[in-house]
Amino acid sequence: MHSHTDRTRSATAVASQRTLSSEVADSPQRATPLTIRSLWKMMRSGERISCLTCYDATTARWLEQAGIEVLLVGDTAGEMVLGFPSTVHTPLDFLITLTAGVKRGAPNTLVMADMPFLSYQADDAEGVRNAGRFMTEGMADLVKVEVDRTFVPLVARMSRAGIPVVAHIGSRPQLSKQQGGYSAAGKSCVDAVALLDDARALVDAGAQMLLVEATPAEVAEQLVHESPIPVIGCGAGPACHGQVVVLQDLLGLTAWQPAFALPAIEFGPQLLAAARGWMQRVRTNDLGPHPYTMTDSQRDAFAAAAAARRSRSAGSGGTT
Ligand code: KIV
Repeated sequence: MHSHTDRTRSATAVASQRTLSSEVADSPQRATPLTIRSLWKMMRSGERISCLTCYDATTARWLEQAGIEVLLVGDTAGEMVLGFPSTVHTPLDFLITLTAGVKRGAPNTLVMADMPFLSYQADDAEGVRNAGRFMTEGMADLVKVEVDRTFVPLVARMSRAGIPVVAHIGSRPQLSKQQGGYSAAGKSCVDAVALLDDARALVDAGAQMLLVEATPAEVAEQLVHESPIPVIGCGAGPACHGQVVVLQDLLGLTAWQPAFALPAIEFGPQLLAAARGWMQRVRTNDLGPHPYTMTDSQRDAFAAAAAARRSRSAGSGGTT
């Protein structure tokens, strides 16, 4: 049996869903789902690809309405949703569940799942199976792995299995413990050339898109020049075919943002104001009109039942 609270909650959910659907219906929406081919087409026509991280269906719905082409269910969910200090803690099953939620919220948007730490590094066969779970259970359209050329056999096996692989190169946050923190990649000529060679090897192995993080702009520019597949940049400069940032950075919800991901709005203070406004409404009982009513006959019957209960409990010395 549902409790009163459950029923109240689900009624509220239905009401807010109704509002949201009419808002969504009023705005132009993608009629057909985007595919990896859509991104290749955008790359060829010089149209920039917008990508944002997303971890839930409600936000995904809004981002699809905005027209964002790619939603990345990043392992940054471990930081943004679970509060871990780095992405190495992000659990696999958790990320698969979030991916499915994002896809349900944005069915016509390309959803890129991020394979978390140790879901693909220990063993290639396990990596292929875990990537497959992102596609079957998580309904992901693309699967991202943080790699260099030593992962060519894995990328080849994943590609052979029919998994659309995004090779995340450059700065690789899953190595942050080993490297003692985060740093830019390709800052020396040797490192920059190695990065280009990594990219080439991964493309040859079957990667269908590259994501390059934190490199000097000229390195990404050369990468774009050499790459036959789309290159999404994350702090890699303007030459990339597309750009990604963490949504919470863009919304101004994080305490600190990288220089390439400056907030578009200051949503944090707005959230604070909404929470404080709610506290005020709770304290003053300013709850708005109550949506649930009884018919007159049920109200009369209930009043009589309540009075009888009160007099019974008064007779037995009870307080209610
Ligand atoms: O997990 C993530 O959010 C990412 C982006 C920052 C590129 O990998």
